[in-house]
Amino acid sequence: MQLFGNGSHIGLTIQYALQEAPRGIAESFIIGEKFINGDDVALVLGDNIFHGSLKFFYEGIKKNKGATIFGYQVNDPQRYGIVEFDKEGTAISIEEKPEFPKSNFAVPGVYIYNNEVVEISKNLKPSARGELEITDVNREYLEKGNLKVEKIGRGIAWLDTGTPEALLQASNFFGVIEQRQGLKVGCIEEIAFRMGFINRSSLEQLVNSFPKCSYREYLERVLQES
Ligand code: G1P
Repeated sequence: MQLFGNGSHIGLTIQYALQEAPRGIAESFIIGEKFINGDDVALVLGDNIFHGSLKFFYEGIKKNKGATIFGYQVNDPQRYGIVEFDKEGTAISIEEKPEFPKSNFAVPGVYIYNNEVVEISKNLKPSARGELEITDVNREYLEKGNLKVEKIGRGIAWLDTGTPEALLQASNFFGVIEQRQGLKVGCIEEIAFRMGFINRSSLEQLVNSFPKCSYREYLERVLQES
């Protein structure tokens, strides 16, 4: 909230709701019921980073009927929700952090649901770790034949920053790309400007409010070069 406020400085409208205790990802649909207001809904976890085309996500939103989630090949499947496919590529099981994973396809933290997700979440029982598991929501959809799992191709990087090692890996990954190109990845003020969410004078005002630092210099360059 301190960082983004109501979002108006970057042309967005941001609202917040607080989860008072770590009672699981699926609780978001209960806390956010009024905000969702009978609509379909997408959920994105704050510690997940995607780099590359996000077309898979927009296509998923357009085509979703029940639930649409994604599968991404990883080396450490014990850390994630894991989906198993049959020979035709249809999802047949989904498990949270299995000791003996049935595949290497992890479910990243982007989920698309129809409005049934609110009722499904309300009826969940907490898991052994005391959380309303998003994987249990997905299993409900799977059992009713309403879960679509789209594999995400190799051209997209999915990084998770949920552990100190993973955070360091993500920092190194983006450090390399940013240094190579001299362009920032995910510089929110630049994006707002280039997408037309804010105009030049709003970006100038923002830049002037920043202390002297390399981030400010970068945005000054964006202004000069456009
Ligand atoms: C959560 C989900 C898991 C998913 C992961 C993605 O894990 O429970 O199914 O694969 O996010 O980052 P958690 O952050 O709760 O460990």
